[in-house]
Amino acid sequence: MRILSGMKPTGLLHLGNYVGALKNWAKLQDEYEAYYMIADLHSLTSNQAQYKEETTEYIYNMVVDWLCAGLDPKRSVLFIQSDVPEHCELFSLFSMITPVSWLERNPTYKEQMQEIKGKDLDNVGFLAYPVLQAADIAVYQANRVPVGKDQLPHLEITREIIRRFHHIYKCRVLVEPEPILGEVTKLNGLDGRKMSKSYENAIYLSDDAETVRKKVMSMVTDIKRVKRTDPGHPDECNLFPYYLAFKNEEEFIGQIRNDCTSASMGCVDCKKKLVAALEEFFAEFREKRAELINDKDYINDVLNDGTMRAGKTAKETMLKVREAVGMDCKRRY
Ligand code: TRP
Repeated sequence: MRILSGMKPTGLLHLGNYVGALKNWAKLQDEYEAYYMIADLHSLTSNQAQYKEETTEYIYNMVVDWLCAGLDPKRSVLFIQSDVPEHCELFSLFSMITPVSWLERNPTYKEQMQEIKGKDLDNVGFLAYPVLQAADIAVYQANRVPVGKDQLPHLEITREIIRRFHHIYKCRVLVEPEPILGEVTKLNGLDGRKMSKSYENAIYLSDDAETVRKKVMSMVTDIKRVKRTDPGHPDECNLFPYYLAFKNEEEFIGQIRNDCTSASMGCVDCKKKLVAALEEFFAEFREKRAELINDKDYINDVLNDGTMRAGKTAKETMLKVREAVGMDCKRRY
């Protein structure tokens, strides 16, 4: 069984990305043949001019963070989308059979058109974002796609495009993928809103110890707990899920919960404990990061190997796809 997933290189990775995706991706390597891709073409849909300055840097850091989080380049195929041109070829064929109405009623499209201001979204690529994503998945014949809930509409469109392809070309050469929704502890940012680069409320995987400490000490906690002597509500607290994500040991969690609800521990002490718990997680991560961040040769090796393996699978699929469409590359008159 094969899986594929991707991330857009639009910023440095933060703890939310780790808990929401990377941690799960690392686990899935044990069960699946995994393809993990940096979706740089997708990031161009909302950021056309910044590739050279920003995206290149984000891609490099993303590979480093992936490796530190335990993605194993020996088992999994780690690559950059634009290095494998077959994505674009299949995108082109898919775009011919995708009704525009499917894309116009895509909930993520409608939402982003309304919410994102100040970026140029008036382009075909942005509307066709799910078509490119469908090509990403289909070109590897992935059976499963680990994603967050927000991506389910894209996966549904992927399945519809593949079914339509099979119907129109009277074949069954592609695989209809199913989502994998991992059990995810949702982490909010420092201010209690969704953790996001644009809200400036994120703790980055590349943050040093002092930065992490300062950020944690500035976190919004239980807004119902006004005085130090008020009992706290862990399940409504912005901080508590961090314990569940990074130190989910029954006894430890029980103790934190007790000390909070009985008001025997204040939020400042609780934050100090969280800093210590995060440092346990970060210790190994930072050690690896320091090793890898300057090892350009190794990062290049990983990507070259990934590109080769991804390209091989993608080419095999495109031979079948071209034959199904009638574009046999050996055809001559
Ligand atoms: N759209 C995904 C996101 O924003 C990224 C992505 C691109 C992706 N291609 C993919 C995810 C293929 C899964 C499969 O998170």
